[in-house]
Amino acid sequence: MKHTLILTLLSLAGVLGANASRSISSPSGELLLTVDVDGEGRPFYSLDYKGKSLVKESRLGLTADELDLTRGFGIASVDTVTVDRSWTPVWGEYDNVRDHFREMAVNLTGEEPARDLTVRFRVFDDGLGFRYELPVNRVGRNYLTVRDEATEFNFTDDHTLFCIPGDYDTDEYLWSETTFSGLPEALGNYRRHSEAQRTGGTTIQTPMLIKTAGKDPVYVNIHEAALAGYPAMLLDVDTQENGMKAHIVPDRLGVGAYLQMPFSTPWRTLIVSDDARDILASQLVLNLNEPCAIEDTSWIKPMKFMGVWWEMFTGNQKTWAYSDDYLAKPGVTDYSALKPNGRHPANTENVKKYIDFASENGIDGVLVEGWNEGWEDWASYRKNRQFLFDKAYPDFDVDALREYAKAKGVKLIMHHETAANAADYELQLDRAFQFMKDNNYDAVKTGYVGAIIPRSEHHTSQWMVDHARHVIERAADYEIMVDSHEAPRPTGLCRTYPNWLAQESARGGEFESMGGNPPSHTCILPFTRLKGGPMDYTPGLFETRMSYYNEGKDSQAGTTLARQLALYLTMPSPMQMACDLPDNYRRFPDAFQFIKDVPVDWSDSRYLEAEPNRYITVARKDKHSDDWYLGAITDDKARKSEVRLDFLPKGKKYEATIYEDAPDADWKENPQAYRIRKINVDSGTRLKLRLAPGGGTAVRFTPK
Ligand code: NOJ
Ligand code: CA
Repeated sequence: MKHTLILTLLSLAGVLGANASRSISSPSGELLLTVDVDGEGRPFYSLDYKGKSLVKESRLGLTADELDLTRGFGIASVDTVTVDRSWTPVWGEYDNVRDHFREMAVNLTGEEPARDLTVRFRVFDDGLGFRYELPVNRVGRNYLTVRDEATEFNFTDDHTLFCIPGDYDTDEYLWSETTFSGLPEALGNYRRHSEAQRTGGTTIQTPMLIKTAGKDPVYVNIHEAALAGYPAMLLDVDTQENGMKAHIVPDRLGVGAYLQMPFSTPWRTLIVSDDARDILASQLVLNLNEPCAIEDTSWIKPMKFMGVWWEMFTGNQKTWAYSDDYLAKPGVTDYSALKPNGRHPANTENVKKYIDFASENGIDGVLVEGWNEGWEDWASYRKNRQFLFDKAYPDFDVDALREYAKAKGVKLIMHHETAANAADYELQLDRAFQFMKDNNYDAVKTGYVGAIIPRSEHHTSQWMVDHARHVIERAADYEIMVDSHEAPRPTGLCRTYPNWLAQESARGGEFESMGGNPPSHTCILPFTRLKGGPMDYTPGLFETRMSYYNEGKDSQAGTTLARQLALYLTMPSPMQMACDLPDNYRRFPDAFQFIKDVPVDWSDSRYLEAEPNRYITVARKDKHSDDWYLGAITDDKARKSEVRLDFLPKGKKYEATIYEDAPDADWKENPQAYRIRKINVDSGTRLKLRLAPGGGTAVRFTPK
């Protein structure tokens, strides 16, 4: 890790008057942050971009049962510093990340009762982060019961919003493109998820994206960084005034956070640019996270994997459960007494077939879902949902598969579906991880489907945020990598804990079997959800018609086959699935070649074209070779463009293998029409892209 210099340090001591506003600009000067307190001592900030107001006066502060930290303040002092350093991620989109910002810590103080609050702002060229720092109170109080956060994000006009509804439990929604004033109608169109708790009203989740109204729009991603020890943030939207206010996820008693001081909240983040490509390239959220906390990271290995997984989604009656008759005999715990249902793919013989296929095709891992006891119990929705993470089903031979996978050079990936019984999972955690290590597993996919047990908590409340980090830290102790589903949405903690390879935390590819994801879905996720960290989206779906698997199903994936290849570039993740059945890959071996070739770790990334909800074109360089790759996707409209290959090193010749939609391809009518061609290119080439409706292009560039 390379830390370069701290340039300036300036401290203004002494209590400044209420009218002494304080400003600081980004290193480039394009962003200007101003902080002040009003006549009632209420702190607020505003943000200008390129000389124009972007965020109007917006309040700051917290309300706790013990102290009101929203008013009665004066600015005691301001500390400013400029930092320019860089760091080396263990994996990611870049091999080196510059962390360059000007910081202003505004130290607020008030009397009767005595209270102090520091708001630390970091202004980067691509946006702003700020957090609250709570010292031990001068009269000795060291805890706070936080109910509300006053933080506002007030905008100047009826801008476009890209968002999903506020929900304490799930983020598996399709995205709305609306405006402040159009939000009530847009949110009215959402169906509530079973067992999840919607907030109602006009509350939305972060990460969300704003595109400002008028010509020369500015894009703003609002999210948070380093969410730890505190609940996740939603946003209450004032649809008349174009404003938003933080809404921290409460527990059942209405408490957001029980804090022990000193404490620093997560950073509230705004990524800002008038070029949509900069939003995708921004590393601001990662920069605001703490450096890697794991000393030896040599065991953390980005990977591609397949899974005994899609079989259960395709509607052909395959089950995670071994038996159907648990319900009929409540109280049965002896699995040898249960009648196998014969539709259980997590069996030794079938898993061996996946291992064979992975081994033949250079795929690193095989995930197996439904291998352990407990699924019958879950299906029955009995109150004491419990899975056992060291007890395999009778037809899953742990020893034989351990040896078989080892011999074939493939890593088995374990699955821990907790059915949201998080408290019980914590109790089993050490045994579960030890069982993994004993059987040569070094990655786990976790899951939290359903309402959290204990029932007083939500998926994104403080307790679950703490749980998620606890699991990651314990996993690191055992040198285990994690892909978590239904966990609090990511906020860049994968920088600190790089064994947290991926998360779901959005509507993923599995929904292609449940109504389908429209092509625009993967054109908005990189602008929103992915700013927190990589997603286990599960790309690589070659058979997109669910009727292929089961005549009774009519759902269809919103994608062409070629687009599925492009997703490996536009949805980067160090733990990337090839989600389809081996048989479907055997039907299209020439297209599958791209999935075999494409890396999952990059030394450089260049966003060439981007517009939220419409299209994305990105080029990336393999971390371990001189190969470059390109991925382009569009929404449900066909798209033609021409991109310059000036990212290739000058004077060097490359062979481009292009996987593209055939001229008559269309996601709905003709999704599997693709063609593959090879051409010679160099940095001067302009590459013509032709994308079908819902289509995409994937390219591999190899040096000649
Ligand atoms: C939901 C997850 O997102 C999915 O990937 C998993 O297969 C099921 N839960 C079962 O655990
Ligand atoms: Ca899920």
